[in-house]
Amino acid sequence: MSHVHSIHHSYWQQANTPDWVPLEQRYPNLDEDLTVDVAVVGAGITGLSTALELLSRGLRVAVLEASVIGSGTTGGSTGHVDADPEMGPRALLKRLGTDKAQQYISLRQNAINAIESRSRTQAQFKRLPAYYYSEYAEDCDEMRREFEAARRIGLKVDWIDTALPLSHAACGYRMENFGRMHCLGYLKHLAAQVTELGGRIFERTFVKPSFDSSERIIQTDSGSVTFDQLVTAVHFNMTPPLRIDAQIPPHQSYVIAARVSNPPQDALYWDNGSPYYYTRHASDEDPGVLLIGGCDHHTGDGDPLKSMQKLEDYVYKRYKVENIISRWSAELFEPVDGLPIIGRVPGHEHVWIATGLSGVGLTWGTAAGWLIADQIQGRRTPLQDELSPARFGLSGLKNLATEHLAAARSFSERVLPAEEIDPDSLYPGEGRVGKVDGEFVAICRDRDGCEHRSSPICTHMGGVVHWNAAEQTWDCPVHGGRFNACGKRLYGPPSKDLEQKSPSEAAQ
Ligand SMILES: Cc1cc2nc3c(=O)[nH]c(=O)nc-3n(C[C@H](O)[C@H](O)[C@H](O)COP(=O)(O)OP(=O)(O)OC[C@H]3O[C@@H](n4cnc5c(N)ncnc54)[C@H](O)[C@@H]3O)c2cc1C
Ligand code: FES
Repeated sequence: MSHVHSIHHSYWQQANTPDWVPLEQRYPNLDEDLTVDVAVVGAGITGLSTALELLSRGLRVAVLEASVIGSGTTGGSTGHVDADPEMGPRALLKRLGTDKAQQYISLRQNAINAIESRSRTQAQFKRLPAYYYSEYAEDCDEMRREFEAARRIGLKVDWIDTALPLSHAACGYRMENFGRMHCLGYLKHLAAQVTELGGRIFERTFVKPSFDSSERIIQTDSGSVTFDQLVTAVHFNMTPPLRIDAQIPPHQSYVIAARVSNPPQDALYWDNGSPYYYTRHASDEDPGVLLIGGCDHHTGDGDPLKSMQKLEDYVYKRYKVENIISRWSAELFEPVDGLPIIGRVPGHEHVWIATGLSGVGLTWGTAAGWLIADQIQGRRTPLQDELSPARFGLSGLKNLATEHLAAARSFSERVLPAEEIDPDSLYPGEGRVGKVDGEFVAICRDRDGCEHRSSPICTHMGGVVHWNAAEQTWDCPVHGGRFNACGKRLYGPPSKDLEQKSPSEAAQ
């Protein structure tokens, strides 16, 4: 199992940045048969926050992590800790009404408070204001309407009449009391708090997505965990109901860390574009370094190299760049109705899930901790029905049909005439899906010049994988499964590697 899911390292995973937390194994792998009250699968911010909440209620908890702490999406995130609804204040009001929209904001504000109280020095948590802005004066009336709605849902906001602290902004408003943090530093502290409270953490302990929850036991390669309750906190859906997969289409998101000579005032910034661009300072210890992200697209739909280039153009156009420190991309799961999926898995009484956390999963993953812990103990929680995975009834089926245009498109690639590929025409770093010697294959030449051939059919539910030239991976557009150049499973719902096709060199 690789440490990181892509060839690029995020700013936090990059050696020689201030307060670098190396991605290394700190906890043993599971080599015993264990019995606990709650087994938590996944040691990102969601799994560790949930473990902490359960432990503080006196339950026995084991956390099982396939790789090492920080190797998941939390380690590839940009560490904005905010309560702003991604769908926008007006859309949230329309979706939930005033009272419930206020509950939504308060859940996320409480998550910010929890993150602050759990942070230690290396987590570099810092309270900051945030600015939501448009670069275009013609959007200002629209922005005003969002501002009014933001106030109604309980955000502390101020309209900025004078200049915004960002030279390319035309108008916008300021939100108080958000924050930023060092993602890996925070995870390291969370893990330490879990073990201090008696929790057990096991790294390099892969749980097969096809577990049988009714048995209340997880078998791993070298041990087992018998549980009363199971929390799946792996970012995607690994539970049996496929309807959940359909509600959280995968998206690719891009980030650049750049040292600039004209950084804006220290704050969080995001614009009203779709998809939007956002900016923050990396840390007080690394002045002049900004993290700038954006250019999200549905996995498999866009061209990752072009998206990264577009982001780089954006950065160069707005800042005086001295050097680029790192570029990376990672996957997130956007719930089709804009709300995360947190709660009991329908039809599986003792299985719980937190997924569909979109681009705001640091706060939702934290809130999921106490929401799931409270529900396990039989308490009702705010927005329980609205966030429940059981909410996808008939409307879910409608969304399923819409969203699965992507799946249908992917499956149709299996039957449409495929292009003939001459393997010798592939340059290093290039991959394509098509016919070679009459066989339908995913073929690529890695950056060292070695050719690899696999079946292009995803081992989860048969989507056709696409080559991601930026990360040098095969990505499945249907539910976000990811494989390396050799076809080895890296990430997501598939439990098996792509089928190898000969000739393949250097199978890892
Ligand atoms: C580029 C980018 C920037 C982002 N920036 C922000 C931001 O600034 N603010 C914000 O709030 N959100 C942000 N997000 C979203 C946020 O990063 C995620 O929602 C959040 O990190 C998800 O945390 P998690 O713990 O659920 O998942 P992860 O951090 O991915 O953790 C899941 C863990 O489960 C493990 N795992 C997977 N499968 C198995 C298995 N079978 N057995 C055992 N373990 C397994 C993985 O190895 C991983 O360690 C961003 C996302 C992206 C892609
Ligand atoms: S078909 Fe589900 S991840 Fe590929």
